[in-house]
Amino acid sequence: MFIDNFKVEEWFNEYEPKAKYNLADICIDSMSINELIDISGIDLSVLKELYSKKLGYGDIQGSKRLKEAILSMYSSQTLENITVTHGAIGANELVYKALVEKGDEVISILPAYQQHYSIPESLGANVKKLFLKPENNWLPDINELKSLITSKTKLISMTNPNNPTGSVITDDLMKEIISVSNGTYILVDEVYRGIVSDEKYNTTSIVDLYKNGIATSSLSKAFSLAGLRVGWVVASKDVIGSINHHREYNTISVSVLDDYFASVAIENKERIFERNIRKRKEGLEVLKEWLKTEPHISCIIPNGATSAFIHYDLEMSSYELCKKLLKDTGILFLPGETLEMDKFLRMGYCNSPEKLKIILNLFSDWIKNNS
Ligand SMILES: Cc1ncc(COP(=O)(O)O)c(C=O)c1O
Repeated sequence: MFIDNFKVEEWFNEYEPKAKYNLADICIDSMSINELIDISGIDLSVLKELYSKKLGYGDIQGSKRLKEAILSMYSSQTLENITVTHGAIGANELVYKALVEKGDEVISILPAYQQHYSIPESLGANVKKLFLKPENNWLPDINELKSLITSKTKLISMTNPNNPTGSVITDDLMKEIISVSNGTYILVDEVYRGIVSDEKYNTTSIVDLYKNGIATSSLSKAFSLAGLRVGWVVASKDVIGSINHHREYNTISVSVLDDYFASVAIENKERIFERNIRKRKEGLEVLKEWLKTEPHISCIIPNGATSAFIHYDLEMSSYELCKKLLKDTGILFLPGETLEMDKFLRMGYCNSPEKLKIILNLFSDWIKNNS
């Protein structure tokens, strides 16, 4: 089966080990087991239950404890509407494999994680790409979306809050999308849901708004626990049935240890989200101050998620810029071309604000010498 090169992952494989200052990474200061235990307020002796756990496959479709924890993040779902996967990357792949066939049309809202267009393309679907635009605050244009929908449209996909731009489709706009969708499946990659600047950007999951909605998510972004390879899909019972049919071939189960720590994390989501929203806010302040001082860079301020998609006016492609910058300074960004948009760079800003300030000033010095 042919599938296009996964440009973002290729970039990380090749250049992340060479970075001294990594702004390509968009996780929020990943947590250690110690910090997870600490923030959850668990007595360390509880971990003894972990030591005696048999390292078999565990519960094949995820433990009841984990599924109940996941369920707590949705308002109108049951255990039958959930399946546990290997990260959101496993969740997204399973959705496309279960639902998309040769000749189907899929509308993918870009920029997006490449799975959302290259997997349906590899399955023989006709993928129509709707590009978000900065002049529309990186939000989808409803008329443009409407013009792409035909009787063959099987699925519309988007990421909300969006990676890389940080834009947030609020419930009102999502309801407009649903109203023009013609009853097609709407897949929303919700790995950043809840990590937003303000209460007004908190969104309801697509599955609690729309009966043909499908939500994928994981612990990697909003929970700062990418090392626990746990994700999930929430959808109607029928869709979950088709996904589980495919899941038998590529998952069996997630690790018993991951299942345990994932349950602990989700049961303590309020405290983890509080930590992450605070860290995001501190980083965003630094970014906003720097943007005021840097004439060669412009950016629509992100309302959610963990990355900013910054535009530059230098005479070089995003691949050229990122490679030269890395060589000269050790700073790593993600080139916009890996997300199909040249003249942009994706940057994370949710780690150390002190370090971020230093790195951005270093970047400004480099820009002065290269513009
Ligand atoms: C939008 C989006 N979806 C899915 C993934 C994959 O996440 P996971 O680590 O849960 O597999 C990523 C990772 O960067 C992502 O940004």
